[in-house]
Amino acid sequence: MSPDQVHLIRKSFAELSRLEHVAALVFYRRLFELDPKLRSLFTADIEEQSRKLIDMLGVLISMLERPVGLELELRAMGARHAGYGVKDEHYATVGQALLDMLASALGEDFTPEVRAAWTELYGAVESTMKAGALESDSDVLHDHRADK
Ligand code: HEM
Repeated sequence: MSPDQVHLIRKSFAELSRLEHVAALVFYRRLFELDPKLRSLFTADIEEQSRKLIDMLGVLISMLERPVGLELELRAMGARHAGYGVKDEHYATVGQALLDMLASALGEDFTPEVRAAWTELYGAVESTMKAGALESDSDVLHDHRADK
């Protein structure tokens, strides 16, 4: 990512942190509108959901600070997500809900450049998490065989 893109992401994150609850409401409403089946993966508690969203955004932001050091952590997180019941195709839906939430929370500050920066960042995290989920599949098989 270019320094300009990093700057844009940080700026929109600062704005979002002020709107934490509203952002969470908008994000989950959009997510469940896009795919109602995803509702059952989450708890209904909005406090907790806001915290999860901020956690998710926090992970995306830390990718800006230490993209290399984060790789293993993201792979492990992808594996945990597979355990929550998250499938590869859900990443696109969450990415869409995230962009729609950003558009609504940031209003006119959601410029094409801001959209491009978030899309690139999410895409990088998404592909590393998916790789981790794949690995965890084979680990499970491996552990299973080792038990026998
Ligand atoms: C860039 C992509 C994503 C990031 C950075 C992210 C981040 C996180 C984080 C930090 C947590 C807290 C628990 C943990 O670390 O394991 C979490 C939990 C969770 N995430 Fe994600 N997530 C992403 C994508 C997704 C997708 C695509 C789904 C699919 C619907 C999803 C569903 C969940 C669920 C169901 C939980 C656990 C909720 C619970 O049991 O309370 N996440 N996520």
